[in-house]
Amino acid sequence: EGLSETPASGVTNHRVRSAALVGSQPGAPDWIKRTAARAMLRAVRFKDEDFFKPLITVSCTYTNATPCNDHMIELARIIADRIESRGGKPLLHGTPVVSDGETMGTPGMRYSLVSRDLIADCIECQHEAYMADGLITLGGCDKTIPGALMPLLRNDSIGVFLYGGSILPGGPEKNLDVISAFEAIGARSANRITDEQLLEVEKHACPGAGACAGAFTANTMATIAVALGLAVPYSAGHVAATYEGSVSDNKKQDCVDTVDALFTCLERGITARQIATRQAFENAIVVAMALGGSTNAVLHVLALAHEAQIPLTIDDFHEIGSRVPLLGQFRPFSKYVMADLDRIGGVPVLMKHLLAHGYLHGECLTCTGKTLAENLAHVPNDLPPNQDVILPVTRPYAPPGRHILVLKGNLAPEGAVIKLSGKEIRRHQGPARVFDSESSALDAILAGQIRKGDVLVIRYEGPAGGPGCPEMLSPSSALVGQGLGSDVALVTDGRFSGGSHGIMIGHVCPEAYVGGPIALLQEGDQVVIDIDARSIDVVGLTSTEWDRRRASWKRIQKPATGLLAKYRSLVQPASRGAITICQT
Ligand code: FES
Ligand code: MG
Repeated sequence: EGLSETPASGVTNHRVRSAALVGSQPGAPDWIKRTAARAMLRAVRFKDEDFFKPLITVSCTYTNATPCNDHMIELARIIADRIESRGGKPLLHGTPVVSDGETMGTPGMRYSLVSRDLIADCIECQHEAYMADGLITLGGCDKTIPGALMPLLRNDSIGVFLYGGSILPGGPEKNLDVISAFEAIGARSANRITDEQLLEVEKHACPGAGACAGAFTANTMATIAVALGLAVPYSAGHVAATYEGSVSDNKKQDCVDTVDALFTCLERGITARQIATRQAFENAIVVAMALGGSTNAVLHVLALAHEAQIPLTIDDFHEIGSRVPLLGQFRPFSKYVMADLDRIGGVPVLMKHLLAHGYLHGECLTCTGKTLAENLAHVPNDLPPNQDVILPVTRPYAPPGRHILVLKGNLAPEGAVIKLSGKEIRRHQGPARVFDSESSALDAILAGQIRKGDVLVIRYEGPAGGPGCPEMLSPSSALVGQGLGSDVALVTDGRFSGGSHGIMIGHVCPEAYVGGPIALLQEGDQVVIDIDARSIDVVGLTSTEWDRRRASWKRIQKPATGLLAKYRSLVQPASRGAITICQT
């Protein structure tokens, strides 16, 4: 009998798409045709009135396999309740989740970057199949965040992203995180710590739910989501949970604010591409650079720009980034974690300081329905006193152009990415030590075969070669653990973890798998990395020698079946964000 009632005004307006699933109005020609769909939805607890509510997809990147996404179900439930109380109808679904921290150094890691596009495809599939009106996507770690942002832009949906929040610091002195555990491996192999100390780190590094804590990839991408305007302003800084194990009150509030932002977007017809404009992407790069974010941001921002149909290249990333000083003092290169930023006011404090000094476009529209400047109106221009989590632009941690840079040269004609994080390196020259896999390089480091001055080259680990462009956190951490972090350069067509530090050059393009120059390197070749010249070159090889090597080159084909084989056939170079599109 409820079917004939007129729905509350203001609610049906948001049903832009879902009438295609459930019918528009009793008596309308489409209503009878959709009877079977409504019959099935009644079996999943839809009531008469639910057929008149806006349908909201809630994409829940849940798994109990990893702390970053262990609490996602609770967040999704809070979100679903809020959607109901705002007069909407939530449709929940899950996606795969690959923990970089756990799979690192195993064959499973090859699924990490692959999972980004798979997650995006899963969300697109669910949201488009059920013709839902609004979309809330949750992300808690390195790939679930870009994977949850991409589908918002892909079909220009009305939608908002919510970050699960970072983990609290661990250990009695609250100074441990998962990177401490990675670095402890190298320290143990160099006999700098005991087995007992190693176990202590293992037991206390990760005290509960939440993403890896420093300015690693998850926190970088969560910050980028806010800077783009696709997430509510405080959501990137709020931690996931308490030491007692419940979802933090701030994160619960983020859930409510995210739903309210979505309803604002529904009411006003604000779509993701109206928010994520070219200016918004420039803001995102600026904020990521000032924070001290991960090199993976280069891949993911390029992929997001592709989804938004915004022309953005690796050179734009370099050019925009080169104007921005490094202000954050976060792990892995410095001392703080995201919870420390939250303590002084969160990402809005950093953004307001950047806005006040002319680094951001304040007029960009955001998911709150307000502009970026309006969202920050209540935040003081000056940074809070008596803190050094974020340094002022007048006294930065490092001047502009000393964080993430793009290098080119005869070893990387299409670009490579280096993360300096303020390190005073101008030039590194040394003999190439060449490995065709991460594991063989790690074995050599742990066996003490890598020496000061070497250029450790790890190849056939690119997007197609790996396949899946795995992260080289195990080798980079092992070098740091052995005290070689400042003396050995690591060059790879794979990626680095946001937790990596040292002299690291990743995303070398073209990759070895497609016959890039990195494939032709031989043990002992002299490699020169020149930061001021933005170059990475092999020196001392004649063109005849290059030709000779190219003529005798044979690709190393690492096995790949199923999803990995499919990925290898579609993936584009890292310099294009490792997007997966058919080239024809
Ligand atoms: Fe998920 Fe680090 S493993 S954020
Ligand atoms: Mg990672």
